[in-house]
Amino acid sequence: NPQRATVSLNTHRTISEISPLIFGGFAEHMGRCIYEGIYDPGSPLADENGIRQDVVAALKETNYRIMRYPGGNFVSGYRWTDGIGPRDQRPRRRALAWRSIETNQFGPHEFMDFARQIGTEPMWAVNLGTGSIQDAADLVEYMNLPTGTVYSDMRAKNGHAEPFGVKYWCLGNEMDGPWQIGQMDAVSYADKAVQAAKLMRWTDPTIKTIACGSSATAMASYPEWDMTVLDRTYGHIDYFSMHHYAANPYPTISNNEGLPLDTDSYLASSLHFVEHADTLAAAIRLAKAKNRSKRDVYLCWDEWNVWYRAKGGDGEWSEAPHILEEEYNLEDALVVATWLNTFLNKSDVVKIACIAQIVNVIAPIMTRKDAMFKQTIFYPLTIFSNTASGYALDPLVRSPLRDTKRYGAVPQLDVSASFDPQNGQGAVFLVNRSQTEPLTVQVCWEDEGPQSLTRGWQMSGNDPFASNSFEKPDNVIAHEITLPQLEGRALTVQLPPLSFTAFTTQHA
Ligand code: AHR
Repeated sequence: NPQRATVSLNTHRTISEISPLIFGGFAEHMGRCIYEGIYDPGSPLADENGIRQDVVAALKETNYRIMRYPGGNFVSGYRWTDGIGPRDQRPRRRALAWRSIETNQFGPHEFMDFARQIGTEPMWAVNLGTGSIQDAADLVEYMNLPTGTVYSDMRAKNGHAEPFGVKYWCLGNEMDGPWQIGQMDAVSYADKAVQAAKLMRWTDPTIKTIACGSSATAMASYPEWDMTVLDRTYGHIDYFSMHHYAANPYPTISNNEGLPLDTDSYLASSLHFVEHADTLAAAIRLAKAKNRSKRDVYLCWDEWNVWYRAKGGDGEWSEAPHILEEEYNLEDALVVATWLNTFLNKSDVVKIACIAQIVNVIAPIMTRKDAMFKQTIFYPLTIFSNTASGYALDPLVRSPLRDTKRYGAVPQLDVSASFDPQNGQGAVFLVNRSQTEPLTVQVCWEDEGPQSLTRGWQMSGNDPFASNSFEKPDNVIAHEITLPQLEGRALTVQLPPLSFTAFTTQHA
């Protein structure tokens, strides 16, 4: 007999409004993300501007609402002026962060065209590594001001008279990391970030700014860095950035070599995501109180994903080196689904989130010159992004527990749900974390309940390590399922072991 779990929902018991910006992506000048991923003029699948149309179609399917650019570690050595003007005059440089040659054939104008094609809001990171606060303010002028001053006129001369209107601005990237070009201590970073934010806001008072959190919970700087930076920047920022990469064995990407895999703990890694978000949310509240501020600052989880297997290329300085080309499997897709559950369940504090990254480099899609395939993680991401809207509901869950080495007893069922009063649409997302045990779940609504179920998907399999490839692109996908029957205000769903299930509902 399968184990049983219950989920009680009430469309009036909500956690918070869901910010659509939690369905965001990140495109860095790194490996084959930009070059050979987005921009690939040699490909038969590119348009006349070199943009891969198969990639654009897949990104539109995922429905990314915000896109972080141009890095990442790359940005800490990036001169944005290299990427503007006639292409044949743009410099080739060594990009130190990823040991590659940057041709600058793709720059600010090309990115804005691409963002417009996929219908996403840009989120720009400024260089606070080798860059100055003046460079940051000049870039805001270039991107956002009407013509009549030196940089806005330069933009017009380069073909775009209208301001681009970039609203979201990251104040550097991972400035605590020893790998970072221009690494700083927390106080030095906070002081530079405040000065940059001031100049950038004086240039365009409508922008929103995002300060760097520490790079990972495994860093010695966590959470001291976060508390110090929040305290010192509080009056100048709108969001605080957090980064987190999951791995099997959990939790770090750097010191897990040779350790045995631990899938049970890995599938419970959202406990760690929740702890990270809770800690930073507490740090924000503390900084708000210390600053006697009325301002609200939210979390911007602008790098998250599974990343631990695929490391560097051959170490040669080259254009578009094959680095970090992670091959995702079923267990990774389930972890991604629990991550998205976490975003809904923490929707009161997490208002922006960007999966790192979008193409080839630790990404949901993989390209070669003549083809593309969708990785396993593409499916939960795309289903959530297209179905969760309105408010995150606060589900009451009763689930059997499963033992894990790392977290002790953990609920077998991981859940989130949404309801949009604007159109009466709801969605429920369920992950069965067990590798061996099916689960029968009764979902019931305490209030009116849905009139009908509208669509449903399931992703499962016996092998947690099964993945997709160019040869077998549909090996692990989310299938549409036959919808369970509504019995009054309840329904019963069967969850196989190792599975992600989602369904949508229509309410009066
Ligand atoms: O997303 C890959 C890299 O991970 C980013 O460049 C950096 O910010 C992080 O360390």
